[in-house]
Amino acid sequence: MKRISLTQYLVEEQRQNNSIPAELRLLIEVVARACKTISHAVGKGALGEVLGTASTENVQGEVQKKLDIISNEILLEANEWGGHLAAMASEEMETIHKIPNRYPKGEYLLTFDPLDGSSNIDVNVSIGTIFSVLKAPEGMTEPSEQDFLQPGTRQVAAGYAVYGPQTMLVLTTGNGVNCFTLDREMGSWVLTQRDMQIPAKTREFSINASNARHWHPPVQRYVNELLAGDTGPRGANFNMRWVASMVADVHRILNRGGIFMYPADTRDTSMPGKLRLMYEANPMAFIVEQAGGVATDGQQRILDIVPTKLHQRVPVFLGSREEVEVVTGYHKG
Ligand code: AHG
Ligand code: MN
Ligand code: MN
Repeated sequence: MKRISLTQYLVEEQRQNNSIPAELRLLIEVVARACKTISHAVGKGALGEVLGTASTENVQGEVQKKLDIISNEILLEANEWGGHLAAMASEEMETIHKIPNRYPKGEYLLTFDPLDGSSNIDVNVSIGTIFSVLKAPEGMTEPSEQDFLQPGTRQVAAGYAVYGPQTMLVLTTGNGVNCFTLDREMGSWVLTQRDMQIPAKTREFSINASNARHWHPPVQRYVNELLAGDTGPRGANFNMRWVASMVADVHRILNRGGIFMYPADTRDTSMPGKLRLMYEANPMAFIVEQAGGVATDGQQRILDIVPTKLHQRVPVFLGSREEVEVVTGYHKG
């Protein structure tokens, strides 16, 4: 089998479809290289002294794991000097990180969740990195938080790496979704799945059911109907999977279908759901739509939401078209 590397894929994509300008290509390659470094650290585990908790909290008040901080540092350092970025933003940093003056600045903005699925780090379960790329607004001189607050429809690229039994990189630049597997011996990303498509129909759902008593009525109704199985209103049995790493749950859905939900609930109305719009929901929604799926917040398309805050949270329903439409319909009805 002829192997196509990430570099070759990007160059050919640029030639054929003109969809990837040279600076964006460099950006994607640098992010992919950083993910390779993170994958290496993840793989070392206790041997690399990367497990366990740091003594710090992030801006969301979550206790940081050592690997949250290490991964954030790896992504910042890798992306600072290339001249392709104006600024970065991350789950692990309160405000934006401008490119230091000693380096040239580019026209892109990068946001990331450096390590997704933190609760799984110390138990050797799949975790990942999620990223999203925007263009800096026309005429921007000094980047500010405001420049990042663009709807997900403006993303020019998004992707995630999943550190599981294999390390994979799933990428979209708005022309379908492709998956690359890390060849650990060669240190290269090899194209292993072209044009991924989420099956429209599914019999599998993904939600943290321990929160059931807090859910709003549309989510209660939807999940109860799934649980009722073939004697209930849906007339079919549904299976449940919850990894508690969004990357891993989304990766399964991209491959064999399913619906992923992290709804808002009745506990804290100032906190609509758990997941963050800019670096979790938006990149995943872009990927899911590019693979023929749907992503909503229960009311509207996630990609249409105009952000008001860098770390804003949003309810998430995404995956196979038919199921996401059913639960979104229950919210509207
Ligand atoms: P992070 O580790 O970046 O904070 O994200 C964790 C997220 C997401 O990956 C996952 O789907 C969800 O939180 C898990 O939530 P529960 O702890 O409620 O299962
Ligand atoms: Mn996350
Ligand atoms: Mn994270």
